[in-house]
Amino acid sequence: MKNYPSRREFLATTAKAGLTVGLVGTAFSDLLAQTAQAVAGTGFTQKPLPYAYTALEPHIDARTMEIHYSKHAAAYASNLRDAAKEEGVDTAQPLEQVLTSISKYSAKMRNNGGGHYNHELFWSILGAPTEGGLPAAEGVPAVAGPDGALLKAIKTSFGSYEAFVSQFETASKTRFGSGWAWLLVDATGKLVVSSTPNQDNPLMDIAEVKGTPILGLDVWEHAYYLHYQNRRPDYVTAFWKVVNWKAVADRFAAATT
Ligand SMILES: [Fe+2]
Repeated sequence: MKNYPSRREFLATTAKAGLTVGLVGTAFSDLLAQTAQAVAGTGFTQKPLPYAYTALEPHIDARTMEIHYSKHAAAYASNLRDAAKEEGVDTAQPLEQVLTSISKYSAKMRNNGGGHYNHELFWSILGAPTEGGLPAAEGVPAVAGPDGALLKAIKTSFGSYEAFVSQFETASKTRFGSGWAWLLVDATGKLVVSSTPNQDNPLMDIAEVKGTPILGLDVWEHAYYLHYQNRRPDYVTAFWKVVNWKAVADRFAAATT
C-alpha cells in the first residue's frame, strides 16, 4: 500500500524542490496545505467539483449532484475539520495519514474523515457519460473502459473486464444499508474488489480488506434516491457510463509506483 509522507518529509521535499521561494505575504500553512493536496494526497477541505452538476446526466441527475456535493459532502468536510481541531490533528498532513491509523481516533473522525476522503475520490473518478462501458481495447468504439496497464491488471486479477464488473456490481448491490464498493490495490499490488459500511474505506486500519482505493461507488441512498428511488441496481449499472477511466488509471499508476 502506498505510504504518504509525514509533514517533516513533505517539508523537506518541498524545500528541496524550491517550493518555499516566494512565500512573502502568504500564510505558509495555507500554501503548504494546498501544495500537499496537489502532490501528496487529500486535504481537509473540499476541492471544487471538477464539472457542472448537470455533467453526469441522465445517469446521475443535477439535483442529486448539487445536494450530494454542497450538502452531504460539504458537511463531512466541515465536521472533519471540527474533529481535527478537537483532537489536535495537524490539517497540513495528508488526510490519508490519519485514515491509515483511524483506530486511534474518535468515531467522529472516522465517519467524517472517511466521508470526506470517499467523496473527494468519488467526484474525481466520475466524468461526462460516454457510449461505451467496455474496454476500448476489446473493440468497442467509445473509450469508456480501462486500457493499457490498468486493463492488463484487471484481467490478471479478475480474469476479464466483465468478471471485474460483475464482482464490483455484486459488492455494490449487496452492501447492506449505507456504504461503498471499491476497486483497490492491495499490499501485493493485486487489484481487489471490496465493500465497506458507512464511510469506512480500504485505507483504514480497521478495514477488513486493506489497500489503496482507485475506484469507488457511493451506495448511500443520498447518492441515488431522487432519481432511482429504491432501484439501487439500476444506479449501479448506470455508474459505468460515467466512470472517468483516465482518472482511475492515474490513481492505479500512483498506487503501484
Ligand atoms: Fe455520498
